Amino acid sequence: MSRRPRNQRKKARSRSLPPGRSVTRRRRERATDSTFVDNLSLPVHRWFRYSAGFAAEWARDLIERQRNAGRRRVLDPFAGSGTVLLSAERCGVEAVGVEAHPFVVRIARAKLGWRESPAVFRDYALDVLERARERDPGDCSRYPSLIERCFPAGTLARLDALRSAWRAAARACSASDLTWLALVGILRECSPVGTAQWQYVLPNKLKARPLDPFEAFRAKVTAFYQDMVDRQAERLGPASIVHWDDARTCRSVGDEWADLVITSPPYANNFDYADATRLEMSFFGEIAGWGDLQESVRRHLVRACTQHVAGLTDETFAVLEDPILYPIASHIRPVCERLAAERDQHGGKKPYHTMIATYFQDMARTWRALRRVTKPGCLICCVIGDSAPYGIHVPVEQWLGLLALAAGFRAVSFEQTRHRNVKWKNRKHRVPLHEGRLWIEG
Ligand SMILES: C[S@@+](CC[C@H](N)C(=O)[O-])C[C@H]1O[C@@H](n2cnc3c(N)ncnc32)[C@H](O)[C@@H]1O
Repeated sequence: MSRRPRNQRKKARSRSLPPGRSVTRRRRERATDSTFVDNLSLPVHRWFRYSAGFAAEWARDLIERQRNAGRRRVLDPFAGSGTVLLSAERCGVEAVGVEAHPFVVRIARAKLGWRESPAVFRDYALDVLERARERDPGDCSRYPSLIERCFPAGTLARLDALRSAWRAAARACSASDLTWLALVGILRECSPVGTAQWQYVLPNKLKARPLDPFEAFRAKVTAFYQDMVDRQAERLGPASIVHWDDARTCRSVGDEWADLVITSPPYANNFDYADATRLEMSFFGEIAGWGDLQESVRRHLVRACTQHVAGLTDETFAVLEDPILYPIASHIRPVCERLAAERDQHGGKKPYHTMIATYFQDMARTWRALRRVTKPGCLICCVIGDSAPYGIHVPVEQWLGLLALAAGFRAVSFEQTRHRNVKWKNRKHRVPLHEGRLWIEG
């Protein structure tokens, strides 16, 4: 086993856990990992803002230190927009990502296409723009109502022209994927209504200065082009790969392939990754509306929001009987019972008890899959936060730690990096939450 990372060598404080098992907790030492904001100044990373990402420079720093310790194959089983994969490329190590969201995996794949010739991409994208300008206005009446509420007729006509021109030219090549990403990336910028980046759409709020689609597209293509030139002037290293696959099985990854895993799974906090892409998927005709998200997206994902599990409430306590959850059975059952009782006191009747039971079942499966695809002596860094649905605390990192040990990993410790739920006045409960790195060694 190689040396532990430097930031793990501080004195640790043990948390109360069942005998024989320990998850230690460490104080913050290095810069935060839990924000994507820093990535907005970095070439390629900034091509798409993904609020669930973490800082690329932190990932790069960690990969570099671990490369120097002999770890040269990196896996991110919840790859999202590809932050870890792009960072690994800069460190000259091999990296593979797994992402189950069918739209998000295409974003990551398109970003990994930065090695395409900048001139080939620019000519391809500007040709799409010229063809869009020349097109007669298409029939925009068939767009889903969300799209009609987000874009005035003139803006939608231009976006539709870009979409049609891209489709007519579409080929299986990076230039085409990058052109698609440029179009994806301007959608929210061109809407006059409140479309917080990547998050839900707020049609009742207005934006000060929405962009013209043709101008925004040209600007995006120019920015991509410049980033490709800049990035290609640096070290290239092995190209990372991202698979549309499920972290709970990691079918596309070979046995004992990885020696370093850096990842941030969905938190058990009711964030709906499917709904987060509703605007983009509606625009491209991949869904007709909210009702399609379960079939198109959620069913592929770890169950971490109540919308996902609404049809499973009757099975909650059967899920808790799954032997894979035995290592945390005495902890999770009383919490789920309290959540089920609390549910009856609330109008929304959210099935948080089902969400928590299925979340840990899915994460237990993920640890088993990761045990198969990692080498003995591997290191896993999992950025995670706890949660408190209906104000009932769920010590996520502790339970994930116990499940990881049960899956065959050797040691687990938790390094807290920040507090959550301490600032906002409109928070739903007052339970202090935190976020940090769950380090797993095996
Ligand atoms: C916290 S985000 C990771 C963001 C990523 N670190 C980045 O920098 O973009 C978690 C990701 O896990 C994905 N996900 C959810 N369930 C999954 C599954 N079963 N297998 C693989 N990915 C999954 C979500 O779609 C989401 O993109």
